[in-house]
Amino acid sequence: PDGRELAGRKAVVTAGPTFEPIDPVRGLTNRSSGKQGYAIAAALAARGAEVTLVSGPTGLPVPVGVTRIDVETAMQMKAATEAALPADIAVLSAAVADWRVDTVAGGKIKKAPGGPPTLALIENPDILAGIAKPGPKRPKLVIGFAAETTDLEANARSKLSRKGCDWIVGNDVSADVFGADGNTVLLVTRDGADAWPRLTKTEVAARLADRIADHFSPKA
Ligand code: C5P
Repeated sequence: PDGRELAGRKAVVTAGPTFEPIDPVRGLTNRSSGKQGYAIAAALAARGAEVTLVSGPTGLPVPVGVTRIDVETAMQMKAATEAALPADIAVLSAAVADWRVDTVAGGKIKKAPGGPPTLALIENPDILAGIAKPGPKRPKLVIGFAAETTDLEANARSKLSRKGCDWIVGNDVSADVFGADGNTVLLVTRDGADAWPRLTKTEVAARLADRIADHFSPKA
């Protein structure tokens, strides 16, 4: 390998949380540092891929050689991810909020004597399931994530078929993961599962990028 195994390949990566506004000063969000997704974007770019990173709010710098599109909400993330197609590779690692507030208040909601407001929520679209749907724009390799605390393999495998993606990076989040530098991963594909030892997020990204490169040009 020349270190540029993914030259000529296009990749889109989502990372970080989404932020769903309630009013101008409040919102709903998820716990995600974005570190794993950023490391994957960096590892793909280091192997020569042309990488678009669609990122929710994180404090992280743009990885070298990567084009970052900053978004806040799930709806914006979906639009930016679809706008990055066609691509050969999609790695959707963002922690997308499952719900958004139906009607965002135009002004700050005041504390009232009548008690707290009731927020009506509506479901956000599943970006991964949409990208993985068969069609002319479907990337050749669609990879999703599954953060689980129990039954990692069974949950990851059912997510794989439910969402129609090719691989799932199963994440054991019962251990220390959020914001940490380490990660424990089970790579689930259609025909098997591969348990990786506890690695740094940079090492997980490098292994995943190597597996992706191998998928496109298998070594003899
Ligand atoms: O269903 P769950 O949220 O556990 O699925 C996780 C996987 O699906 C991740 O790859 C995540 O980025 C993706 N996802 C998405 N859009 C959503 C919810 C999850 O792309 N609305």
